[in-house]
Amino acid sequence: MRFLVLGSVNIDMTFRVDHIACAGETLSSKELEINAGGKGANQSAALGKAGMEVCFAGKMGSDGGWIVPILSAAGVDASLVISSDGIHTGQAIIQVDSIGQNCIILNAGGNKTFTESDIDSIIGGFSQGDAIVLQNEINNVSYAISKAAERGLIVVFNPSPFDSAIDTLPLDLVDIFFVNEIEGAALAGCFHVPADDKGFRSILEAIGRKYPKAVIVLTAGKNGAYCLDSERNVFFAPIVDYPVVDTTGAGDTFCGYFLASRALGKDYSESLMIASRASGIAVSRRGAMESMPSADEVFGE
Ligand code: RIB
Repeated sequence: MRFLVLGSVNIDMTFRVDHIACAGETLSSKELEINAGGKGANQSAALGKAGMEVCFAGKMGSDGGWIVPILSAAGVDASLVISSDGIHTGQAIIQVDSIGQNCIILNAGGNKTFTESDIDSIIGGFSQGDAIVLQNEINNVSYAISKAAERGLIVVFNPSPFDSAIDTLPLDLVDIFFVNEIEGAALAGCFHVPADDKGFRSILEAIGRKYPKAVIVLTAGKNGAYCLDSERNVFFAPIVDYPVVDTTGAGDTFCGYFLASRALGKDYSESLMIASRASGIAVSRRGAMESMPSADEVFGE
C-alpha cells in the first residue's frame, strides 16, 4: 500500500511565550524558531519516519525550498511538490507557552492554490488499495475526496482546522476520520466539547451513526485516544506520559503512526498504543516534523 498525502506545507514561525497572548496584549517572546510544518507535510513525515512508502503533494513558493530536503530525510517522496514563483509558501504563526500548549494562526499561501487539474494529475498516479490522507488546510478538498474515492483509494480525512464548510464535503466517502475532541464534537453536531470517557464515547458513536461505514479515530489529549471500528467496537489507549515541551504536530504524529501500524497489520488496540507512544515522544521535543520519533524509537520498544 502506498500513501499519498495531499495537503498543506507551512513555514512554522514558533514564538516561545510565557502565556498565549490575550486580546489587546503585546507580548515579548523568549525565542523564535523557524521550522518546517503544515498538517499535510507533517503527516507525510510521520508516515515516512514510520517506514511507509509515502508521497507528499503540496504547493509552495521558492521560499519553502528548504523544506523539501527535510521531507526527503524523513523518507517522504517529495517529487509531487509543486513549487512556483508566483506564490509564497503557507505560513503558521505559532505561540507555544511555558507548559507546551500552542495557538496557531495560518496564512494559506500556496496551500489554497490547488486546481482541479493539479488534483487530477496527482491522484492519477495512485490506484485502488492506495490511501490518500487529506486535511482541511488546502482548497478543493471536496474535489479531492470525490476523485480519490472514484479511483478506489482509501480516503483518510483529518477535518482540521474545522470550519463550517466541512459539512458541505462528501464525507460519506471518507473511510477513516481523525479528529480531536473539538473537531469530533463539531463533526457529531454537538454543542459541548466532551471532557470525560462517557462524553468521548458518545461523540464517537454519534459520528459513527452519521458515517456508518467509516472508522473514527478520536484523540483526546491527556485523556488518551479512542477508535471506533467499522463493526462499531470501541478501542481505547491512555496517553504515554512524557514531559510536555511542545504539542505542535502531536496529532499529525499520531495520525501517521496509527496509519502505519494498521498498514503493518497491527490491530486497532495496538495501533492506538503505538500512535500514543509516538505522539508522546513528539510532545517531549520542540517543533512539528523535527519532533517526530523514528520507527526504531517507536516500534523498537
Ligand atoms: O498540526 C500542526 C501544524 O498545524 C503546524 O505545523 C502548522 O503549520 C499548522 O499547519
